[in-house]
Amino acid sequence: MPLQAQGIVLRNNKIQSLYFLLEIDCPPIATLIQPGQFVMLKIHGSQTPLLRRPFSLFKKDRGRYRQKESRRRFSILYKIVGRGTQKMIELRKGAEVNLIGPLGNGFTSPPPLSLRNPILIGGGVGIVSLFPLAEALEAGKKLSVFIGGKTKTDILCVKDFKKLDASIFVATEDGTLGHQGTVIDLFLSKREKLWREGPSPIYSSGPLGMLKGLAKALGSNKFLCEASFEARMACGFGACWGCVIKTKDPKTPYQRVCKDGPVFNLGEIIWEDW
Ligand SMILES: Cc1cc2nc3c(=O)[nH]c(=O)nc-3n(C[C@H](O)[C@H](O)[C@H](O)COP(=O)(O)OP(=O)(O)OC[C@H]3O[C@@H](n4cnc5c(N)ncnc54)[C@H](O)[C@@H]3O)c2cc1C
Ligand code: FES
Repeated sequence: MPLQAQGIVLRNNKIQSLYFLLEIDCPPIATLIQPGQFVMLKIHGSQTPLLRRPFSLFKKDRGRYRQKESRRRFSILYKIVGRGTQKMIELRKGAEVNLIGPLGNGFTSPPPLSLRNPILIGGGVGIVSLFPLAEALEAGKKLSVFIGGKTKTDILCVKDFKKLDASIFVATEDGTLGHQGTVIDLFLSKREKLWREGPSPIYSSGPLGMLKGLAKALGSNKFLCEASFEARMACGFGACWGCVIKTKDPKTPYQRVCKDGPVFNLGEIIWEDW
C-alpha cells in the first residue's frame, strides 16, 4: 500500500552533465521500497510543476549508510529534462519533498533457479532501476550488464556495477564510449556467447524504442524477460488511467504502467499501436 510522506533532502549533487543524485531521508518509504518500484515526488510548497514526477529507486541501505539508520534513507538519480527536474536541482540539504510511494510492482527477484546468470540491459537513465535489482541478484550469480546512451555523458552507474563484479558492456550511439551503436546491437553481438549454456533471464529498462528493439530481437523466445516501462504519469497510483499500455491479456488488455507495471513481461506487450 503506497504511503504519502514528507522526505528531507540529505544531499543533491551533480554527478555528471545533466544527472543528479538526490538522497532523501524518509523512513516509511525507505524501509518498504523494492527494486523496480518508484516514488512520485513534488517539492514541498512549490506549485511548479503542479503534478508530482515519477522516479525509480536507485540505492538504499548501502555504502556508508550500512548501519541501522541507513534504513531511513534512499536515493534517486535523475536527469534534467524539463520544468520539474530543472526545479529539483535547486533542492538543498534540509529541504522538504512530498512523496508518494512505494509505487508499482517491481522486478521478479530472484529469477527461477533453473535460469542462468542474469543479463541486465539499460538505456539512458533507465539503467538506474536496474542497479538495486543487481544488488538483490548479486549473491551467487554472475551478472552481465549492458549500458547504453546517446553519448558518453549518458553512460551511468558503471562504477556502481563494477563494485558488484559484473561484466559491463557499454554502447554509445555516437561512439564516444564503448561500442558504437545501440545497446541492443551490442547485446545481440554477445548473445551467442552469453547463451552458450542456455538462455539467461533478461531485465531491461529504458526508452520505448529500446524496449521495442529488444522485444523484436528476442522474438517468440519464451523465458523470463522483464522490462520497466516509462509513461507520462499524472497520479502515479492507478486512479487516472493516463498511463495505459496495451497487452496480450484478453481479460485486461489495457494496463496501467504505474499500478500494473512499471515492470511487464516484455513478451506480453502489443507494439503495433506505437
Ligand atoms: C516509473 C518511472 C520511473 C522513472 N524513473 C526515473 C529516474 O529514476 N530518473 C529520471 O531521471 N527519470 C525517471 N523517469 C522519468 C521522469 O519521471 C521524467 O523525466 C520527469 O517526470 C520529467 O519531468 P519534468 O517536469 O522535468 O519534464 P516535463 O517538463 O514534464 O517534460 C520535459 C520533456 O520530457 C518528456 N518526458 C517527461 N516525462 C517523460 C516520461 N516519463 N517518458 C518520456 N518522456 C518524458 C516530455 O515529453 C517533454 O518532452 C521515470 C519515469 C517513470 C514513469
Ligand atoms: S498515472 Fe494515473 S493511472 Fe497511471
